[in-house]
Amino acid sequence: MSEPYQTLPADTASTAVLADRGLRYALVDTADADAFAHWLGADERGFHAPAPTPDRAESARERVGYRRTTGVYDGAAAEPEVPVATVSSWVAQLTVPGERTMDAWAISSVTVAPTHRRRGIARALLEGELRTAVAVGAPAAILTASEATIYGRFGFAPAAPATTVSVDRRRVGWAGPPPAGSVHFRSPAAIRDEVEAIARRALLRTPGEVDRWPGLWDRMLGLTDPTSEGSRGIRAARYDDAEGHPRGFVVYAVKRSEPDHGTVVVDQLLAETDEAYRALWRFVLEHDFVDEVRAHLRSIDEPLRWMVSDPRAITTSEYGDHLWLRVLDVPTTLSARTYSAPSRLVLAVDDQLGYAHGSWVLETDASGRAFVHATDEPAGIRLGIEELGAITLGATRPSVLASAGRLDGDPDVVATADRVFAAERTPHLGIWF
Ligand SMILES: CC(C)(COP(=O)(O)OP(=O)(O)OC[C@H]1O[C@@H](n2cnc3c(N)ncnc32)[C@H](O)[C@@H]1OP(=O)(O)O)[C@@H](O)C(=O)NCCC(=O)NCCS
Repeated sequence: MSEPYQTLPADTASTAVLADRGLRYALVDTADADAFAHWLGADERGFHAPAPTPDRAESARERVGYRRTTGVYDGAAAEPEVPVATVSSWVAQLTVPGERTMDAWAISSVTVAPTHRRRGIARALLEGELRTAVAVGAPAAILTASEATIYGRFGFAPAAPATTVSVDRRRVGWAGPPPAGSVHFRSPAAIRDEVEAIARRALLRTPGEVDRWPGLWDRMLGLTDPTSEGSRGIRAARYDDAEGHPRGFVVYAVKRSEPDHGTVVVDQLLAETDEAYRALWRFVLEHDFVDEVRAHLRSIDEPLRWMVSDPRAITTSEYGDHLWLRVLDVPTTLSARTYSAPSRLVLAVDDQLGYAHGSWVLETDASGRAFVHATDEPAGIRLGIEELGAITLGATRPSVLASAGRLDGDPDVVATADRVFAAERTPHLGIWF
């Protein structure tokens, strides 16, 4: 399916900025295998990954070729066909509080070659991406960041965290209730047909989650190179409830390093019910002959701690500001979610790039619905665009930002805002993109 954003021309303002520096900003025709392979090579080099083989490039083209794929080219470079900067973007579905989703402009593959850094190329790309997002009608932009110091200047802020959870498996016994249903091993190829529907329902529960694209499942399940050793080590299991309905799944691998040492590394554990969540964790923890279970990009608020006999056997590390969000259209973004208390707040937002700048009434009713419009009334809360992004999904309380000196307001109004913006579940994102 051709999306309008795939064919929208490269942003004219960024094209002009880059042309002034002798650079050409262009959309990559992802139907052209060579052009895509050069783009991918630059992208992978930017993240210090091995150069892609022709097979890998072709498989990546099949998985992510639907995205708007952009490169910056330097005609004076020794290899002018290889871009000196890359970015890709698409319209993703972002879960917001209230088990709803909204369109969000997902930005990925932001790289600038070390030969061309610190001369404003990333700035031209990011500003161009935000203008493109507005042109296609996306009310917010999202990304995951390699470094926490890059994106605040463009109005992005951490909006849904993630952490690594490690369990000292030999210390934990199961303390939760027994599951009513059953866990079934599935081959990666068999579960491939099932994961999308289960994941769609499971992701709707958690603000900050982003829909998975088909190629991500292929890669995660090892189906893009099924004969490699890594792929053959991937295991998958599905949980069916007592009525036989699939309610969750886990994808994992067991890494063995010494005769007695093994680690279950959980890639995805997605559950659409609490019961499925418990049953899948129990299944994972009951892998004997391993001493650790490690799961990356988990919630900072996992119920797991309350399901084992020794909660100190569970440690977290690599706490991360994982999902970054940039509000572009205040009324559409803020009215996409539901709220936890009825109220009428006036927010004055300072946005140097202009998109969200102004004063906004956020009126919420008892059912959680919001009505948002511009106003010239005096504001109860004054905040910057980054702070707005940080509170949008409910991951950071407005009062925390007030304590940090990053949001102004009468303490009573800020306390009301805390209640209003609270989310029913702790925001979290479980993938990199
Ligand atoms: C991050 C990266 C894309 C920046 O590219 P760049 O063209 O050198 O960036 P620019 O020259 O446009 O810099 C834009 C601004 O960001 C700042 N900046 C750029 N990279 C930064 C970094 N790694 N850390 C902190 N600040 C950074 C610049 O100082 C500049 O600030 P200013 O405009 O407020 O003065 C580039 O260093 C890169 O490719 N890094 C490796 C891959 C990566 O981490 N990509 C990000 C993926 S999420």
